[in-house]
Amino acid sequence: KMLEMNISQLEKGGFPHFMLKEIYEQPRTIIDCIRGRINPEGTDVILSGVRDHQDKFLKAGRIIIVACGTSWHAGLIGEHLIEELCRIPVEVEYASEFRYRNPVIRPNDIVITLSQSGETADTLAAVELARNSGAFIYGICNVIGSSIARATDSGSYIHVGPEIGVASTKAFTGQVTVLIMLALSVAKLKKSISPELYTTMLHDLQQIPQLMERVLKLDTEICDLAKIFTYAHNFIYLGRGYNYPVALEGALKLKEISYIHAEGYPAAEMKHGPIALIDSEMPVVAIATADSVYEKTISNIQEIKARRGKVIAIVTEGNEDVRKMVDYVIEIPRVDERLIPLVVSLPLQMLAYHIAVNKNRDVDRPRNLAKSVTVE
Ligand code: AGP
Repeated sequence: KMLEMNISQLEKGGFPHFMLKEIYEQPRTIIDCIRGRINPEGTDVILSGVRDHQDKFLKAGRIIIVACGTSWHAGLIGEHLIEELCRIPVEVEYASEFRYRNPVIRPNDIVITLSQSGETADTLAAVELARNSGAFIYGICNVIGSSIARATDSGSYIHVGPEIGVASTKAFTGQVTVLIMLALSVAKLKKSISPELYTTMLHDLQQIPQLMERVLKLDTEICDLAKIFTYAHNFIYLGRGYNYPVALEGALKLKEISYIHAEGYPAAEMKHGPIALIDSEMPVVAIATADSVYEKTISNIQEIKARRGKVIAIVTEGNEDVRKMVDYVIEIPRVDERLIPLVVSLPLQMLAYHIAVNKNRDVDRPRNLAKSVTVE
């Protein structure tokens, strides 16, 4: 028993849980993910899966992204990236819905599938369905040689190493990183991105590990914040643009490991119903970083404050305006708007983690959940 304990502690590398270890690994896993895909000068990025099938990407009429859970959230970020940078229409589908609704898939469509485990039954079934339509299928997986990796025509591994915690953390940021590299590779081929933006994004992408290191230093601050909200019964997470999927992901993290009911919403959608939930008992995590929808998000935060909601805002460092408006502020470093999800996800993972620990939950193995859902 003693020996078993020590082995498990050793596996966790000194961390109390795999989840925390995996959160802290992210600066390293992003380096592993981009390694070999960016040239030594740091001026060019290419995924071999894209390079080897350039014609498919150049001819693509549409991209359909299929996935489940956290991987589906990464897919939503992919939709933004690919539509903005590559000007290819994108749809994002839950694999479980896609497989049973006889979807239209054309031979010049590309189906991109995202799966950490590469074994999710619904995602695998969606891939098989797509294969019969003649579309080109691109897999973004973590587990090497997994069923989905083998069933796809081409793809990219995220290379973040084994993820043990049931709540996905480093796989999510790895998936987003691959989607960024994919969008940049395709956009360059299609000449649909300006050289300036290409350079800025590539530069900022290489800064991400350092920026993540800085964000991880917020742990004590976030731990204190978690104490205040441990007994909340509900949570709302808001974001817009690139941060809307991050809000969904933040809410999912909290739900699955703390069992607190949480919902992610696009901030402006609140006024169409959910704002009725807001009172002084409702914590709202609002992502209001420096991006193209910042001003819009601020007015959404004012709507929440006017109804006495308790707002925890995540802002770009140096922002003093939001501090005057809300209850708590978490500052993250400035980065190109398209890369913000990589940085802003970390405080949300840490917040969910500390709340779950305070509630004495089995963080790495939450009730009712399996790491990979191999049944439908
Ligand atoms: C994430 O925290 C979840 N446990 C879950 O949503 C997961 O992302 C989903 O089951 C998909 O898994 P996959 O990436 O291995 O296909």
